[in-house]
Amino acid sequence: MVLKLTDIPFFPSYIDGQSDHQFMAGAWAQGPFARDKLGVISAFSAEHMAIFTDERWTRQIELEGMRASGVTRGAMFDFVSNSLLFSNGQAHRNRRGPLARSFARPVLAALREDVARRTDRMAFGLKGAGRVDFLRDFAGPLPAQVIASVLGIPENDADSFAGHVYSAIRGLSVVSAEIRAESDADLDAINRYVDDLLAVRRPDEAGDFLSQYLAKTEDGPMSAEEIRCQIVGLVLAGSDTTRGALASTLSQLLQHRDQWEAFCADPDGLIDGVVNEGLRFDPVIGSLPRVTLETREVDGVKFPRQTFVAVSMLTSLRDPQVYADPDRFDVFRSDHPRLHPVFGSGPHRCLGEILARIELEEALKALARHLPHLAMDGPPPVMRGYGAVRSISDLFVSA
Ligand code: HEM
Repeated sequence: MVLKLTDIPFFPSYIDGQSDHQFMAGAWAQGPFARDKLGVISAFSAEHMAIFTDERWTRQIELEGMRASGVTRGAMFDFVSNSLLFSNGQAHRNRRGPLARSFARPVLAALREDVARRTDRMAFGLKGAGRVDFLRDFAGPLPAQVIASVLGIPENDADSFAGHVYSAIRGLSVVSAEIRAESDADLDAINRYVDDLLAVRRPDEAGDFLSQYLAKTEDGPMSAEEIRCQIVGLVLAGSDTTRGALASTLSQLLQHRDQWEAFCADPDGLIDGVVNEGLRFDPVIGSLPRVTLETREVDGVKFPRQTFVAVSMLTSLRDPQVYADPDRFDVFRSDHPRLHPVFGSGPHRCLGEILARIELEEALKALARHLPHLAMDGPPPVMRGYGAVRSISDLFVSA
């Protein structure tokens, strides 16, 4: 018998004190899908992640997320309308192409040196600093400074730019009218900043990142607003994600002292395992949203066209069909898929994976080199959220 969407069980009630992982595992234990009160269907397994992100029958959400939050205008609404992440088909290809080609390996390879120098200085600077607010003093500034450097923003402006970025990002979630107004104002400031940066560049295939990007958009189909939005998108997509992943990975390492000590003894040898496991164990992306384009049966359930599906990263990255003992944090595991699923798949696969990896690798190696005695100085941070970019609470360490 083929089931209808209304036959899918609702999510179980949240039990006080449950982690996001425990809550989602409880929903998965009921069956392959769960639905919420708005009718969004969640899927849990790694296999379903592949099925529901297959562009042949599903598409990326566009403005549905904004509209569901009651947002129909403003800076964030305009940004989402013009961004590559929330577009499909030809519009997506138009927007992704020039950015992907400008953000290619040679540009990124040159960045590794810059990031290594920066993280070395930052980690060394923490030596003997006592109690450190790791998000404020390390994990937050790093991605914002690195993207500022990619865009050629002067070092002196990087901190105020970072302030705008972390405030603006809040507008991608469901927030109060007050926070939305602040977020829109900060996004306006970023827009003006990026407009000014673009205004003084000339298209130049051999120039810096922005000049190359302009050369690749010349005579193309994008409007001036779209050209700017893809750069702003890079800034927004690359900040909170890397910040959360770095803090979460470090906290897991410090909570598994034997693995931290093994890493400090051989940072170069263990770095790949550390980064892959940090990204898997408590992923910074909660789920990937998709809308079905045709009616199809999956696992005995009929999914009509236009069904809104969220495939959980939390559960699919702990799928026992893929990972042995999936609830164990283990930097030595050898069962990570070749392409890490946390960066998505298909046409929207993350454009910043290499940059994110460079930042995570260089930061964690520098911390291990300079601060082998680093320890938690407070409760472990908690990652929260089931969709989009998850938030992380404070991480204090003693350096
Ligand atoms: C740990 C860090 C990161 C994670 C886990 C991550 C994850 C993801 C995921 C899952 C997607 C696809 C979303 C979907 O299919 O719905 C995505 C898209 C994207 N990411 Fe990342 N990301 C990270 C860091 C970065 C960085 C550092 C940048 C750039 C500076 C970046 C730029 C982008 C862009 C531009 C897209 C949109 C691609 C498109 O729609 O074609 N990301 N990211």
